[in-house]
Amino acid sequence: MKATAIAHANIALVKYWGKRDEPLNLPAVGSVSITLEALSTTTTVTIVDAAEDHLILNGKPASRQQTQRTFDFVDLLRTIAGSESAVKIESENNFPTGAGLASSASGFAALTLASAAAFNIEPTARQLSEWARIGSGSAARSIYGGFVEMHHGEKADGSDAVAEPLFDRKHWPLETFILITSDVEKPIGSTDGMNLTRDTSPYYQPWIEDSQRDLANIRSAIHERDFEKLAEISEFSCLKMHGLAMSANPGLLYWNGITVDLIHHVRRLRKMGLRAFFTIDAGPQVKVICHPGDTSGIAPHLKGLPGVQRIIRSGLGGDARIIDD
Ligand code: PMV
Repeated sequence: MKATAIAHANIALVKYWGKRDEPLNLPAVGSVSITLEALSTTTTVTIVDAAEDHLILNGKPASRQQTQRTFDFVDLLRTIAGSESAVKIESENNFPTGAGLASSASGFAALTLASAAAFNIEPTARQLSEWARIGSGSAARSIYGGFVEMHHGEKADGSDAVAEPLFDRKHWPLETFILITSDVEKPIGSTDGMNLTRDTSPYYQPWIEDSQRDLANIRSAIHERDFEKLAEISEFSCLKMHGLAMSANPGLLYWNGITVDLIHHVRRLRKMGLRAFFTIDAGPQVKVICHPGDTSGIAPHLKGLPGVQRIIRSGLGGDARIIDD
């Protein structure tokens, strides 16, 4: 009747951009991500005797308009469970909200686990990933820790558009610094951005066709622990995604000036022999992924950079899981 789950955020190294179906959040391309220990959402779902669902986000009641997606998602799990009961959802992010860090991946992954347990459903990890994807595409990846691959799948019902663990976090304990350059909310969210790109960019089809190669290459880079190859593919996929978004009409530019300065800075560090690369999602923050052997050498070079408001350091996180109260 009551369950609490924790899930970690993730960042894609081979990026997902574009949907082959919007209501089901079916991705047009596969993606590969790492799960981050330091960023997590803890969610408690309680079955209650009430007329409607309630959501409390970071200690404050959330309105239905603000969070319709969450309520629609709970409806879906309630239908799967064959239940008619209302729920109270209490969700907390351990990282600053409004800092431009996507909380939807960890949020929907934790909500999927906690709701399934509260409604007494016993899904497989594959089902959990499939359901989390309906909440948010990247949430499917947050079901697992370490290195994770999301498949675009072929089926119209989305049953094969699920994430799968590639390697455990112990395989290669990479570290990430998240450099926050702005806490202003992004002007256009990922779903609207993806739709505009599909409808207007001349590069959308080539992006889809090229992605298979990146996926094959990154799998082997991770398998071989080849950092140089990992850096090359990740920066290529990141810049290709942003180039694609910029080629929409009107063009989507998620960066600010500091984002660009940081790209140059990370590339300079690599020239100095420090093993680090950058990746950037639909916002202006820069994530710097480091080889475990060089993290302490890189850290001083990221301190006090102009325009960087805050830095969060993280190792790789584990699977989303139910926790005892
Ligand atoms: O999960 P969504 O719908 O917020 O989309 C995520 C899109 C990117 O973060 C830009 C890339 C990715 O693969 O996570």
